[in-house]
Amino acid sequence: MAQTSALTERPPLLEVRDLAVQFVDRDTVVHAVNGVSYTLREGETLGVVGESGSGKSVHVLAMLRLIPMPPGRLAGGQVLFEGRDLLTLSDPELRKVRGGGVGFVFQDPMSSLNPSMTVGLQVSEPLRLHLGMGADAARKRAIELLDMVRIPNAAQRLDQYPHEFSGGQRQRIMIAMGISCRPKLLIADEATTALDVTVQADVIELVKELKREIGMAVIWITHDLGVVAGIADTVQVMYAGRVVERGPVDDVFRDPRNAYTLGLLRSLPDLSAPVGQRRRLTQIDGAPPDMRFPPKGDPFAPRNRYATARCFEEAAPLAQAPGAAPGHLVSAWYDLPALVAAETVP
Ligand SMILES: Nc1ncnc2c1ncn2[C@@H]1O[C@H](COP(=O)(O)OP(=O)(O)OP(=O)(O)O)[C@@H](O)[C@H]1O
Ligand SMILES: [Mg+2]
Repeated sequence: MAQTSALTERPPLLEVRDLAVQFVDRDTVVHAVNGVSYTLREGETLGVVGESGSGKSVHVLAMLRLIPMPPGRLAGGQVLFEGRDLLTLSDPELRKVRGGGVGFVFQDPMSSLNPSMTVGLQVSEPLRLHLGMGADAARKRAIELLDMVRIPNAAQRLDQYPHEFSGGQRQRIMIAMGISCRPKLLIADEATTALDVTVQADVIELVKELKREIGMAVIWITHDLGVVAGIADTVQVMYAGRVVERGPVDDVFRDPRNAYTLGLLRSLPDLSAPVGQRRRLTQIDGAPPDMRFPPKGDPFAPRNRYATARCFEEAAPLAQAPGAAPGHLVSAWYDLPALVAAETVP
């Protein structure tokens, strides 16, 4: 709790206001992100979860103007980073923010690293570009960075190419590049998904260390709720391009108020049970809506056994969940804890 109140006293680093992104393809429009709003404070780690296609990647890519337009289209919103709207910055100013104030790491290091350029040059490039370092200083710093992400013999390996490193090492190199300019915000989109479990745990430990060391805020996008529990202060659940629940991780996981969040939590295996006795996963029935034809009401209503008539008419605004921790916000017309409790009464 002390940690939460310390976080809320800091000024907002990032303020996303009503962000909406669409993709236009001849005569159809995909409504990928539909009015996402949230605030991130300095040093805060936000975990973003939600099933495939819920708009997790598109919303962060749109923030940095990394979506090709067309087919993408900004349908509204503001993204204030340190008070300046990234969506209206000039290109040179935006380039300074990308890689300078904001670092990012994406899922597939092979497609983000240049295969024909040595790792040393790739790691030093942002240092020269954004921090104005000379070649020698940048090379020295690149070695320190690779040491920091625990690439063995960094000084010797600087002149090697990406294919000479293992998948886990390439991901660490991406993280080294993401944090090289000491960003105030690191955005990691499925940054550890492709890694095996021990390497994944290592990378997460590393990000936590760096967070402590340089005090950066983090947006961590993942399918893995366990990772979110381990790394995040705040969790944000997305469905059909909207935020349906958001709040302190412990509170949201212990006391979910949106039926989709509850479904996600119930689909987790109980890892504390002995192997063989682990409860079968309960999948959420049904499929997410086709976002070319967004439904009129709450997009989760057709899959939600707790949905009320009103859910089919309009989506509830994201608002403080009654009786939950301050800052635990939910979009729901129904009272989930009461409905769940009523079910379990014999
Ligand atoms: N280039 C594109 N053209 C058309 N539609 C797109 C494009 N990129 C994304 N979309 C659509 O936007 C929606 C949101 O996609 P997004 O990639 O943000 O999902 P996600 O939550 O990151 O999913 P995942 O967990 O699979 O990474 C999806 O319906 C997707 O099909
Ligand atoms: Mg994605």
